[in-house]
Amino acid sequence: MENSKTILVTGGCGFIGANFIHMANRVRPDWRVVNLDKLTYAGNLKNLEGIQQGENYRFVKGDICDAALVARLFMEENIHTVVHFAAESHVDRSISGPADFIQTNIVGTFNLLEASRSCWFGQDKTIELPLFLHVSTDEVYGSLGETGYFSETTSYDPRSPYSASKASSDHLASAYFHTYDLPVIITNCSNNYGPYQFPEKLIPLIFHNSMIGRELPVYGDGKNVRDWLYVTDHCEALVAIIELGKPGKSYNIGGNNEKQNIEVVQLICDTLDEKIGPLEGGLPRRSLIRYVTDRLGHDRRYAIDASLIKENIGWQPSVSFETGIKQTIDWYLSHQEWIGSIIDGSYQEYYRKMYGT
Ligand code: NAD
Ligand code: TYD
Repeated sequence: MENSKTILVTGGCGFIGANFIHMANRVRPDWRVVNLDKLTYAGNLKNLEGIQQGENYRFVKGDICDAALVARLFMEENIHTVVHFAAESHVDRSISGPADFIQTNIVGTFNLLEASRSCWFGQDKTIELPLFLHVSTDEVYGSLGETGYFSETTSYDPRSPYSASKASSDHLASAYFHTYDLPVIITNCSNNYGPYQFPEKLIPLIFHNSMIGRELPVYGDGKNVRDWLYVTDHCEALVAIIELGKPGKSYNIGGNNEKQNIEVVQLICDTLDEKIGPLEGGLPRRSLIRYVTDRLGHDRRYAIDASLIKENIGWQPSVSFETGIKQTIDWYLSHQEWIGSIIDGSYQEYYRKMYGT
């Protein structure tokens, strides 16, 4: 079968990238996906179980910062579209060790932009209507007070090493559009949740700790707000943008699900108590909640105005937080061996350093 598109997915063994590959495999079986992933602590081949190497899928273990490897992949595969997820993605890790964030998120993105430019605008061949989709975050906009929303015209004001590195990569991507006409689209999405998320992020960490009876660390007063986006809603938005998005545009993608962290933690506790019963001794899981020292520079509130993507592309989120969190908990309950298989000694060491227990 002649593939209509060959897509280079970077970071396809991570949380969102893996969900995207599963979705593409289901809804766009004519796309060939080439997945370039370094398999850092956050990337795992187990996230792609059921996806077979073959005509429509190839996995390449490698670093987006490796210019020779990326150039070779562009040559070999006739890459038509880049969907760039690969990144160091955890704010707490960026606070304790920012260097990898600068390297992967900034230098790695630059390297992919350069490879796209030289391949798509090279003299020996022309790719019709190529696209570089740069997946970024709403954290580039900084922190909101109690009211207001981030829109595509909100000024950038990143406040953590993670968000500063993503903002830098957004600026590079945007500069390649304006300077070289590279067909770039940037998406800035809110906090994702769902299957295959590494248990350093709030929701899978609270699930995992609740299951093993470990304390549930809530930073500061627990009233920081995030706008939760179910990962399949996000992936549907990305598929729609690949097909209908306009180069040079940025699109904000949000879930319309603003929640305080403490509400999220309590909901996970209560849902688990209901589904599998309380802790040993009959204690409710809420008894594990501990307020701990706040994150440095902790952004107070994120909230997305996703009206542009609704008007221009016709996408809007469809999963409420109440439904999504139930689906997520059901998935983690039926995949307990998955968490066991992806966390190892280095996770336990990270956890001890981070939380002191
Ligand atoms: P993740 O940490 O779960 O996965 C990152 C993946 O990138 C891993 O598979 C890892 O092995 C790979 N990777 C890291 N460095 C690499 C390198 N140098 N070369 C090749 N592969 C490398 O991240 P995620 O949560 O799936 O996020 C994906 C993208 O979405 C990121 O760009 C992130 O900034 C963005 N984003 C995430 C969220 C969220 O809530 N998770 C929200 C907004 C934006
Ligand atoms: P996180 O999942 O790390 O995503 P982000 O920092 O990108 O928003 O954190 C979500 C929120 O939960 C954030 O306000 C920090 C808070 N949080 C805790 O209170 N305890 C924790 O152990 C973690 C990991 C996060």
